[in-house]
Amino acid sequence: MANRKFLAVANWKMNFSLDEALSFAKSFHVQKVLTDTTKVVICAPFPYLYTLHQTLDNISIGSQDVSRFESGAYTGDVSAFMLHSVGVSYAIVGHSERREYFNEQGQVLIDKITRLHKYHITPIFCVGECIATREKDEHFSFVTNQLDVVSKPFTAEQVAKWVIAYEPVWAIGTGKTASPQQAEDMHAHIRSYFETKYDKGVADNLSILYGGSVKPENAKELFSCQNIDGGLMGGASLQADAFAHIVEGLHLAKKI
Ligand code: PGA
Repeated sequence: MANRKFLAVANWKMNFSLDEALSFAKSFHVQKVLTDTTKVVICAPFPYLYTLHQTLDNISIGSQDVSRFESGAYTGDVSAFMLHSVGVSYAIVGHSERREYFNEQGQVLIDKITRLHKYHITPIFCVGECIATREKDEHFSFVTNQLDVVSKPFTAEQVAKWVIAYEPVWAIGTGKTASPQQAEDMHAHIRSYFETKYDKGVADNLSILYGGSVKPENAKELFSCQNIDGGLMGGASLQADAFAHIVEGLHLAKKI
């Protein structure tokens, strides 16, 4: 299975006060299952990133977004340089909520990933189809196109540093999870895309996460699939216990 990393990534979205974030940090205990190949990442709202980085051992801190610009007069934006300076090592790019509500696609996403590379922050690049696309049986070509548009300017060496998250839009926050087979089929498709477009080494080493209503009850089964290297969790990452169960599910599924 090459040098793939297995990742459990929390996406807190726009939830929690600082006190709630800190009480999560206090009650979250999974240290015993963390290894060099199994990692936990918490993608928190911007105001909490620095404090969480100071508070949590063995857990990487991620942001949920980054500016497409380097620095300067961009009121409200937060740059990759700033994120790096507060200890952020991962950043979500292209989440379906940002694609839908903030109209982010194409060049915007390319610019964001370019900024992240400069500061050695790992992009967690999200793709996934909506229900209408799946019902028309066009989900594979849709995801191929999402990957094509954004990976176009990047070299194999750059893409090798990414994490991909497959998140079918119809499964996000709906309680409907893709079946392990549906998810595995798409993950295998994504991996073969990278093998064809770049090379086998890039494809084999790429961590491809599944996101969309992952919970303690279904995590282990999903993560047992050969091409599923972990998950991006929204709702279930807001409870320290549930998230810890999911991390343990990942550990058991991959038997490291
Ligand atoms: P969910 O969200 O786990 O609540 O479905 C996943 C995500 O949007 O990253």
